[in-house]
Amino acid sequence: MTTRTRKTLAMLEKHHGDGERLARLTREGFERRYNEDFWVVWRTWMEPAYSEAPLVVDLGAGPGLFVAALAERHPQLRAVGVECAPYMLDAVADLPDNASMVCEDLHDAHLPLADGSVDAALASVVLHELNQPVRLLLELRRCLKPGGRLLVQDWVRAPLDVYLRSQSDEARVFDGAMSADELENLFVHFIEHNRFSRGDLVYLLNHTGFAVLDTHLSKEGRYARLVAERRP
Ligand SMILES: C[S@@+](CC[C@H](N)C(=O)[O-])C[C@H]1O[C@@H](n2cnc3c(N)ncnc32)[C@H](O)[C@@H]1O
Repeated sequence: MTTRTRKTLAMLEKHHGDGERLARLTREGFERRYNEDFWVVWRTWMEPAYSEAPLVVDLGAGPGLFVAALAERHPQLRAVGVECAPYMLDAVADLPDNASMVCEDLHDAHLPLADGSVDAALASVVLHELNQPVRLLLELRRCLKPGGRLLVQDWVRAPLDVYLRSQSDEARVFDGAMSADELENLFVHFIEHNRFSRGDLVYLLNHTGFAVLDTHLSKEGRYARLVAERRP
């Protein structure tokens, strides 16, 4: 394991807290988060980029439920999930034959995928966990075919009051009832979930070889969805 990956795992353990619990919650919340609204977006924006036997990559794939679901829906498709947290990889259940997981640190990923071979990619709630996403976006650009697409969905910068109201009982934050540990956890996560704005993500994509086709904000502006296409 490289020094960088050790650093990544230490950072993620701090951000995720109890990793096994998070892996369990990620599994349990899958159907709710990857609901019909999500699949409509996927069908509308991502499937038009499919070739006859599509290759799809899920960046920061957690316990691999998206690659499993995608592979089950499309037997002719190959789905590859990329993940580095051991507690997430341990939570991967049996995958269909056309789905697999690779262990790789996205901070400086070298994906085992040929140039121009990938039709579509997902980066769901992962870019905000990276110290820098530039190397990942450049590596993804290498792997995507021209016209291949990336769907990004993630927490984006929001004002403190909007964030606090979404995460806790706002009154408790200020009435002295919250312990120092609880407050620290809340405010550290505020910073971690406020890494990039929607405009920052557009800027990053534009500078790494992508054209942004669509953007959408939800959850009072705290959550963004962007669809980007690899420029030729
Ligand atoms: C919030 S979870 C989202 C999981 C999944 N994409 C989903 O939407 O359910 C973010 C995932 O990205 C992974 N991740 C974060 N930084 C990473 C890195 N540098 N390399 C590989 N995986 C990373 C985390 O371990 C975690 O599983």
